[in-house]
Amino acid sequence: MSELNKIALQILSNGKGILAADESTATMTKRLDSVKVHSDENNRLLFRQTLFSSLSMKECIGGVILYDETIRQKTSNGKTIPELINSSGSLTGIKVDTGAKTLAGSKEEKITEGLDGLRERLKEYYKLGARFTKWRGVYLISDKYPSKLSVSANAHALARYAALVQEAEMVPIIEPEVLMDGDHSAKVCYEKTSEVIKKCYEELQLNNVDLSGTILKPNMILPGENSKNKISNEEVAELTLECLKNNVPSEVPGIAFLSGGQTEIEATTNLNQINKKNNTKFIMSFSYGRALQQSALKFWSKDINDISGTQEVFDHRAKMCTLAAQGKWSENLENKK
Ligand code: 13P
Repeated sequence: MSELNKIALQILSNGKGILAADESTATMTKRLDSVKVHSDENNRLLFRQTLFSSLSMKECIGGVILYDETIRQKTSNGKTIPELINSSGSLTGIKVDTGAKTLAGSKEEKITEGLDGLRERLKEYYKLGARFTKWRGVYLISDKYPSKLSVSANAHALARYAALVQEAEMVPIIEPEVLMDGDHSAKVCYEKTSEVIKKCYEELQLNNVDLSGTILKPNMILPGENSKNKISNEEVAELTLECLKNNVPSEVPGIAFLSGGQTEIEATTNLNQINKKNNTKFIMSFSYGRALQQSALKFWSKDINDISGTQEVFDHRAKMCTLAAQGKWSENLENKK
């Protein structure tokens, strides 16, 4: 077993998943504005260190993805943030792309940037304590999108990123996110996501990436958020499993879904169904941002010094996600607080 494979398994085994706390300063400011908390360095640190020192970190969170600002911060008792994360047995990850920019040649679409200077930045992040990384490609759905150009350019960038990350002895999370925006059906999401994932693995293989030392972070197969044709959680699970079984090579050890705008309960219910029906050899877990933090953020915003109250809210959500990652979640457990 390679070192990278061990790291990937350590992050996702036994129902553990990933806390995606890597919002850029602009995105975090939007989140804090929405609950009327001023976005400054101290408040961003306070909220995040509150989550990272929660009890559930030990049992439920195998890895935390950070943003550049956070990996360099120290907690109020002097530990660095990576030291705090490691103290509960969890691993530190870092978002290394520099954001999705307008794709020249198809201006309504995006291409993720950040390859220039990446080799040097990765060395620094490793020294700061990172052992895994994230890069997010983003794809629109409409009758003409994603274009062949977007599918191919984003897959190429993801693969070159992954090869550099493995060279730096870290596990790359490959995140091709097909967005929920639009009124398309789940069937269309299934087709477009299949095309996107297939192309990513073509490029990853071309770049000699060791797939056993990677984690895939895909979207679930869902109808667009404005679609009138809603489907059941069982159908979401079946379509998602079918898509991944057909397009992800068997060497990949684990899949950690993004929540992508689903509510906390939707993201938990769907993950639970996926695990109940999981007929693949992949671990199916979570790498949630909003679906792990939303309630905790809302609670915290009422009194930013109520650390233990905020942690209780976060611990409950993290436990529910861990149960779902094992197909053991139920509505009864959800409501038993
Ligand atoms: P959400 O779970 O809020 O979609 O965030 C996951 C993530 O890391 C998106 O890049």
